[in-house]
Amino acid sequence: MAKLIPVETFDLIIFGGTGDLAMRKLLPALYHRDRDGQVTSESRIIAASRGALTRKKYLATVKDALKKNLGEGEFDEAHWKSFSKRIHYVQADAFEHDKWSGLVDLLSGHEAHVRVAYLATAPSLFGPIANGMHSNGLITDNSRIVLEKPLGRDYKSACEINNAVGQCFTENQIYRIDHYLGKETVQNLLALRFANSLFEPLWRRNAIDNVQITVAEDLGVEGRVEFYDRVGALRDMVQNHMLQLVCLFAMEPPSSLHHDAVRDEKIKVLRALKPISAEEVRASSVRGQYTAGAIQSSAVPGYIEERGGEPSTTETFVSLRLEIENWRWSNVPFYLRTGKRLPAKHSEIVVQFQGVPHSIFPEQKYDVAPNLLRIRLQPDEGVELSVMAKEPGPGGLRLRPVSLDLSFAETFGVRYPDAYERLLMEALRGNPALFMRRDEVEAAWNWVDGIIDGWATTEQKVESYVAGSWGPTASSLLLDRDGREWHSDE
Ligand code: BG6
Repeated sequence: MAKLIPVETFDLIIFGGTGDLAMRKLLPALYHRDRDGQVTSESRIIAASRGALTRKKYLATVKDALKKNLGEGEFDEAHWKSFSKRIHYVQADAFEHDKWSGLVDLLSGHEAHVRVAYLATAPSLFGPIANGMHSNGLITDNSRIVLEKPLGRDYKSACEINNAVGQCFTENQIYRIDHYLGKETVQNLLALRFANSLFEPLWRRNAIDNVQITVAEDLGVEGRVEFYDRVGALRDMVQNHMLQLVCLFAMEPPSSLHHDAVRDEKIKVLRALKPISAEEVRASSVRGQYTAGAIQSSAVPGYIEERGGEPSTTETFVSLRLEIENWRWSNVPFYLRTGKRLPAKHSEIVVQFQGVPHSIFPEQKYDVAPNLLRIRLQPDEGVELSVMAKEPGPGGLRLRPVSLDLSFAETFGVRYPDAYERLLMEALRGNPALFMRRDEVEAAWNWVDGIIDGWATTEQKVESYVAGSWGPTASSLLLDRDGREWHSDE
């Protein structure tokens, strides 16, 4: 049974309130939470943006966006009437702080309410907006600020942003979002590891041969071509989402779920990542870019065509081989890959256990395959363990890999809330456990910077892959060189 933990009355200010994230994710998430009765009647959503819009016009845009972005049958006209009453619009330019009177007036007299500023804007505006909140006297004791990713584009710019925002808000008021931490199945990783004693003795180098993390998307860069071209797959997905998955998978058991207990363990993993030097970068990483191809039988254009033919060396795919230098994980390779225009939206962690030390089953059609634990993150969230079993019937002792398969949708039969629903409520409630601490973000950039520098020094090429394939051939070779293969390519 779903259980609602109430949130106090709040004013949520969304900077970038007309933007893609607000329309696609934040407002639909708030609509759901409101509809489920989690939001008090006096709570307000205040969209702030540069444009001069009337409230009426803004509401019309939000209504259209909800109709488009909520699931089928989820938009309800009667509920919209009450939800829309919460929504306000103010004009506020990140750099013209003396013209924020609309926001100042709206917030005045509401100091007792929880106040959260959500910055769904470019990171270059984080410092200026924090400053605008400060100079307009809008930061109360009950205020927090949520920073969307990307938090900078390297270690240096991340530190600059953290310093600028840190001049106005204390660290415990700053919530750095990584929406993967709000995904149900990512949280289930904690449940799997720490609510079951079965796995812990096996969760280490003695039993695990390698770990593979795939975050594949079938979509291309959609309407974000310009943004994406400045970023690329390494910064867009690996620095944040994928390294957070590595942390939750590999960290030591925290002593509690207290936010700092968990984050203290995650940071140890980030600090133990073996740097990838310029000499090793070619053997440890692959950069790819998609060319025209087909996804589920529909033809799709290549990345360059999506850019109107303008050449680019930005990677839309990356795969990496990384190592964690500590007792638990020494010499266990972690293979990571992510990309746009891969065959399907498909994210999972595959743990390959070591093979049997000696097989008593000679001449098998299938070798005695190592056990695989597949943690399916999306879609069809679940956990699957492959084990070898005897094929029934006469004809000798024939073996075959079979699966013990747990599908969360079948088991729990409930709607999986979007990650933003949980994260927004956690920020409003003042629980930073699912957000990144400053040191985590900076440590992740520090490691990723090594790869970016290595690529630049060695002029490592982007290799093309046909849209609808699993990336460049070099990505398979990355594992092939170690005598292994990707387990998600079937
Ligand atoms: C975002 C990236 O952080 O995550 C996008 O900027 C990507 O490029 C998205 O598409 C993937 O998120 P999800 O929840 O669809 O796996």
